[in-house]
Amino acid sequence: MAEKENKFEAYGLATQAVHTGTDYDAETGAVRRPLHMANSYKLPDDLSQVNYSSTDLLMYARNGNANQHWLEEKIAALYGAKDAIVLASGVGALHALFWTLLKTGDRVVYPNVSYMAVYRMFHELFNCKFGVETVMVDMTDLDAVKQAITPGTRLVHIETPDNPTVGVTDIAAVAEIAHAAGALLSVDNTFASPLNQRPLDLGADFVVDALTKYVNGHGDAQGGAIVSNDLETMDRIRYEAQVNVGAVISPFNAWQIFRGSVTFPLRMERINASTLRVARWLEQRENVTFVSYPGLERNPGFAVAQKQMQNGFGGVISFGLDTDDKTVERFCAALKVVTFAVSLGHDESLIFPQPSYDERIQLYPEQFRRGFLRFSVGLEDVEDIISDLDQALQSVGL
Ligand SMILES: Cc1ncc(COP(=O)(O)O)c(C=O)c1O
Repeated sequence: MAEKENKFEAYGLATQAVHTGTDYDAETGAVRRPLHMANSYKLPDDLSQVNYSSTDLLMYARNGNANQHWLEEKIAALYGAKDAIVLASGVGALHALFWTLLKTGDRVVYPNVSYMAVYRMFHELFNCKFGVETVMVDMTDLDAVKQAITPGTRLVHIETPDNPTVGVTDIAAVAEIAHAAGALLSVDNTFASPLNQRPLDLGADFVVDALTKYVNGHGDAQGGAIVSNDLETMDRIRYEAQVNVGAVISPFNAWQIFRGSVTFPLRMERINASTLRVARWLEQRENVTFVSYPGLERNPGFAVAQKQMQNGFGGVISFGLDTDDKTVERFCAALKVVTFAVSLGHDESLIFPQPSYDERIQLYPEQFRRGFLRFSVGLEDVEDIISDLDQALQSVGL
């Protein structure tokens, strides 16, 4: 596919979020583009030029659909990139990237803390099913990273801030090590979002963003993007993973995420500010054993975060309570404003305990092994979020 045109490139991010990818509807003059729920499009009269595995021609929804293409323009603009591919979920995007780049005998280096599906793909699927050599490493330890990325490594994948410990990895430093060994670097940027962090500008080759979270922002649609300036590989991803494996986004989800994306910078600014306040409050609260948030001066990732997160530190905090799994659950159930549910990046605040019997708990730093919760700060009044946490802590005797 050709490079995405961004007519609003010279403007700020909020202006681009409002204007890129949109236009008047040619048929009706409506100021919003329509939702095209068709899964099939009219073919040209002359079929001799049609390639049924291509995504260039609107022909069949799995090969690409109009709402997907408009959202792709917007996502590429938000990341200042030449191209974006929008698929059915964040995991669909991660899989599409790995599936296209890796083959039997290749080596991939991945982080010891990452979103669960990345762990599953590299810990038990790509290695066992396809003979890919998968090497787990602590990405905050750059000497260990250098040792793990041997010449011949095909891909290095990182996630920063990471899920669920909210740890920070130095994107520029890992990009340099990866490129010196001839490897590509992909970055899961979901927690940071494109307002706060643009990994391509820091040397990454690919970005993955679970649009389900901040870009959509309303907890009502699922989608994921791969973003890159490498147009040739992006076309391979479309061909190998979108058309021939099939995790394309539905037009309706693309339409919803497009709608959510319009207010994304505004929401994210608010979330950045509220989250820093909540993190500072938690730091002072007794019975809180640790607070992991890149914006806190005491955080080990603070200096790197300041360097690479240009507008704020995101909306996720992980923290610990000085208590057992059962009391953590009772605390979550006692919350009245914050919702006890998985996911992050919604309008409402969400909290999710990471129990001590989690199979990966030993991979996390010691302090995360007891009373550990992941908290996604939402758009409610920050005073209400804080008082809600306080009353729920008191209600379980903390
Ligand atoms: C960092 C990160 N990457 C990817 C995903 C997967 O996104 P999705 O649930 O849309 O597949 C998630 C979901 O929580 C995530 O937190």
